[in-house]
Amino acid sequence: MCGIVGYWGPEKPKKVILDGLRSLEYRGYDSAGVAIFDSSKLKVVRSPGKLSQLEEKIKSSEFTGPSGIGHTRWATHGAPNEKNAHPHKVGSIAVVHNGIIENYIEIKEKLAKKKIMPSSDTDSELIAHLLSLECKKGKNLLEATLNVIPQLRGAYSILVVNEDEPDTLLAFKNATPMLVGIGEKEIIIASDVQAFISRTNRVAYLEDGEIVLSKKGQVKFFNVRGQEITNKKIHEVKWNSVMAEKAGFDHFMQKEIFEQPQALRQTMESHVDHDSMTVKLKPTGLTDAQFKKFSRIQLIACGTAWHAALVAKYFFERVTKISTQVDIASEFRYGHSILEKDTLVIVVTQSGETADTLACLRLCKKEGHKTLAVVNVPHSSIDRESHGRLYTNAGPEIGVCSTKAFTSQIVALQLLALHMARLRKSCKVTEIQEHVRALLELPSQVEVCLNHDKWFKEAALSLTAYRGFLYIGRGVNYPVALEGALKLKEITYLHAEGYPSGELKHGPIALVDSSMAVVAMASKDELYEKNVSNIEEVRARGAQIIAIGTEDDAHLRRLSRHYLSIPKATWATNSILMAIPVQLLSYHVAVALKRDVDQPRNLAKSVTVE
Ligand code: M6R
Repeated sequence: MCGIVGYWGPEKPKKVILDGLRSLEYRGYDSAGVAIFDSSKLKVVRSPGKLSQLEEKIKSSEFTGPSGIGHTRWATHGAPNEKNAHPHKVGSIAVVHNGIIENYIEIKEKLAKKKIMPSSDTDSELIAHLLSLECKKGKNLLEATLNVIPQLRGAYSILVVNEDEPDTLLAFKNATPMLVGIGEKEIIIASDVQAFISRTNRVAYLEDGEIVLSKKGQVKFFNVRGQEITNKKIHEVKWNSVMAEKAGFDHFMQKEIFEQPQALRQTMESHVDHDSMTVKLKPTGLTDAQFKKFSRIQLIACGTAWHAALVAKYFFERVTKISTQVDIASEFRYGHSILEKDTLVIVVTQSGETADTLACLRLCKKEGHKTLAVVNVPHSSIDRESHGRLYTNAGPEIGVCSTKAFTSQIVALQLLALHMARLRKSCKVTEIQEHVRALLELPSQVEVCLNHDKWFKEAALSLTAYRGFLYIGRGVNYPVALEGALKLKEITYLHAEGYPSGELKHGPIALVDSSMAVVAMASKDELYEKNVSNIEEVRARGAQIIAIGTEDDAHLRRLSRHYLSIPKATWATNSILMAIPVQLLSYHVAVALKRDVDQPRNLAKSVTVE
């Protein structure tokens, strides 16, 4: 959370920094600010609200450069007002920060004893005070940083400029991301590659405890003891800036929903052997011998990725016959779970930076378990740190509301399960072939669903007035119900709950009356009749039914106010198709309610604090 950009180079820093911040606004949009050199002075301008407010404020300001830093904030400590916006400048030092300094009270007390009173309510300003104190003792920026790092506890990426050194940028981090873009004659330091991918694709990823010092474009890396790291790897990133544009769609979320056929093709690309109709994964970092040996699977994720993992549990157990557990990362992390020796830990994440998921990965590695990341962003922290990796390859996902990540995660997890099933001979070859055929058919079936968008929109327009929503489903469709409710909550701010259909009678049915809309997943599968009975039960109590079923289901059509169809699929691919109407319903409700679809309130795309 929070987006950081720093620039040194021949361009006007204001433009590069604002362009970078615009592409990072998905990380937080509570306030924004810059500290940019204007001749020899470091000028700080900050503004509450979105970046556009800051842009307005500095539209006629000339900053001569050569460097500067900027920040877009997701507030943790202190209200989202101007005083708490970053950068924080103390003496000659200006700082932007992403993360949380956990021992900020202790630091504040230490500073108070020196009669230093911060002017904001943030933990971040304290870092600027600590660095400034060191510089006043005659230390240079690197020496000051080496003395400050041991005083900080928590997760942080920190970028610093010093008014006395206009050609210098310095950054350091622990547990949240920080990247260095190395251009021809320029350096850009940022939280995400999207901030500079239009300028350079040469990237160095800062590891925890590393410091980067850029002086006149010469970049050096150091460890916390101040020793230079001479073998820092420079990666060439394959994403490009066009992939992160709206391409004629009204919102990133809408674009990403419509990108799903292509995203799913990319997820499957080169993992499927078309001759034998089986799955042979490209090297993941784990060996076939290891895949044969695991006797338990533990999936860990947050939010939408957790829902994808829940869907995958059914598939893993049915095709690999391995007992599979799914946990929310923030719960697993402090849950003292006991994992058996031969457990494969699979972390599922779009960004590869989610703080709790990363912490679980580290915990499981420390306990000696093999880990595999199902991850979308290449070179992200989770990608770099896990033993093995399976990329979802869905391309950049910018909308805060995750869509193509969800479907591509389910597909990637099914590929993994089928790969393991083949190696372990845990299900018949013909069964594997049937699943592979169903997966290969999926992208064109998703296209069919997308072609029904006008029906989804029509249904959505009649839903804006309901008091509450229940999303219900059974089996693999139960996690899709959870996902549907999450989509609706996060971008429309309407109250929605996801429930297993069979659980309604154990309490939630008491909520049902004519002001309640029930979105029911009832594809033609082994649980169809049971689902229909549950639909009858809520219908009898006055609920408005929006049913999602297979092809033209006359019975469901009769029961529901809106009937939305998906193509005929298998029990395993139904859940992926079900996601499409669910995503588009939420999208259209949000648009009708004039919500900020891509930047819903209080949220950020990449949750890098716990
Ligand atoms: O990047 P990750 O997949 O680890 O992110 C996990 C969640 O933060 C994310 O899925 C979140 O729930 C989305 N906003 C849901 O749309």
